[in-house]
Amino acid sequence: MSAPADSDPTPRTFAAMGPLTGRIRVPGDKSISHRSLMLGALAVGETRVTGLLEGEDVLATAAAMRAMGATINREENGTWSIHGVGVGGLLQPAQPLDMGNSGTSTRLLMGLVASHPITATFVGDASLSKRPMGRVIDPLSQIGAEFEASEGGRLPLTLRGISPAMPTTYRLPVASAQVKSAVLLAGLNTAGTTTVIEPVPTRDHSERMLKGFGADLSVEEKDGERVITLKGEAELKAQTITVPGDPSSAAFFVVAALLVPGSDLVVENVGLNPTRAGLFDVLRQMGGSIEELDRREVGGEPVADLRVRYSKLKGIAVDPAVAPSMIDEFPVLFVAAALAEGVTTTTGLDELRVKESDRLTSMAEALAAAGVQLEEHEDGLTIHGSGGAPLRGTANARVKTHLDHRIAMAMAIAGLASTDGVLVDDTRPIATSFPTFADLLEQATASR
Ligand code: S3P
Repeated sequence: MSAPADSDPTPRTFAAMGPLTGRIRVPGDKSISHRSLMLGALAVGETRVTGLLEGEDVLATAAAMRAMGATINREENGTWSIHGVGVGGLLQPAQPLDMGNSGTSTRLLMGLVASHPITATFVGDASLSKRPMGRVIDPLSQIGAEFEASEGGRLPLTLRGISPAMPTTYRLPVASAQVKSAVLLAGLNTAGTTTVIEPVPTRDHSERMLKGFGADLSVEEKDGERVITLKGEAELKAQTITVPGDPSSAAFFVVAALLVPGSDLVVENVGLNPTRAGLFDVLRQMGGSIEELDRREVGGEPVADLRVRYSKLKGIAVDPAVAPSMIDEFPVLFVAAALAEGVTTTTGLDELRVKESDRLTSMAEALAAAGVQLEEHEDGLTIHGSGGAPLRGTANARVKTHLDHRIAMAMAIAGLASTDGVLVDDTRPIATSFPTFADLLEQATASR
């Protein structure tokens, strides 16, 4: 869960630490980790998961699935064992489900609860309590679930699920894998065909994993849209899963190695699902040296080790069509742009305003405080790069991270490429997705 309310913010200054070299391995993919626990908790038999991300967001999902009847244990060697309740078998939780900082836990679990005859209350931290839930309330209301939400369709929220639920056909009004997944997960315990139409493709881990667990799911292209159909009620069979490394976590080290002179770093075991790997293509377009070594498959996902060398980057106009495949990577891309030569423009990023913080405003303010020239627009930032010269940094002025792990990590990387260092106001949120971030930073800058 999120940092306990009674713990104090933990500020830290990130300053130049020298080149990043050697080999590091980032923790498991957050999206795949959440889904492993949820699908394992609904499957019949024992699901075994290695490489699960043990961050606070994923632990919030584990606690919620336990509260609804699944048996979930971590073995000493780090393997997770899940005994599921079977589709339709979720139990009414005795307490409100504390989702901490995690939008993915909240929205996907709302989908699961919606088609079960149970009532659950969802609560979260200050950041999560500001985020819009209407985007899942709308389709889940169509299947018959009922909601009592706080003002503006926000948490705390109570959901009364329904069984039997009505199958639905839903065209996504926003490009959101969370909304797509919520509707598909609700479809598991709904007799008939649930259809989700995606005008813009988003990460497809739910589709891949539902098929892997034995659900009757198909994906077709029709008139340039992705049409996903799921036949319920489904029966899921327990699986053995290896979670690949999270490209969204690797992103911070890839950008750091590109920006710090003398760096030559291998980031091992990085998931390169095409619906996730947009950042690496954009960085290559900017002139970044990112080489894929030993491309292979792990847990049904393409994976490679990435060798990244210090590069002189050039500003570009980022194609808004790539946004869904790098939606969580814009904060750190903005840092790369701040050190590039020339101007980088980004557009079509309205969704960044409803993440763990408003990431356009958070990053515009944080980078400006570190001496970067930029303009904030309704749907993107225009950044005037330093041409490779270190950023000034913030010295003793605190950068506000607004309980957003990715703002904290992006500004930490900015600090590595600054003269005065960057003082991040609170590093606690980093543990939601990347608990080993600081240790890996030490490791990558120490090995020579
Ligand atoms: C996620 C989907 C994305 C992403 C989030 C994880 C998922 O959110 O930002 O970190 O696991 O489905 P949206 O669906 O809101 O774009």
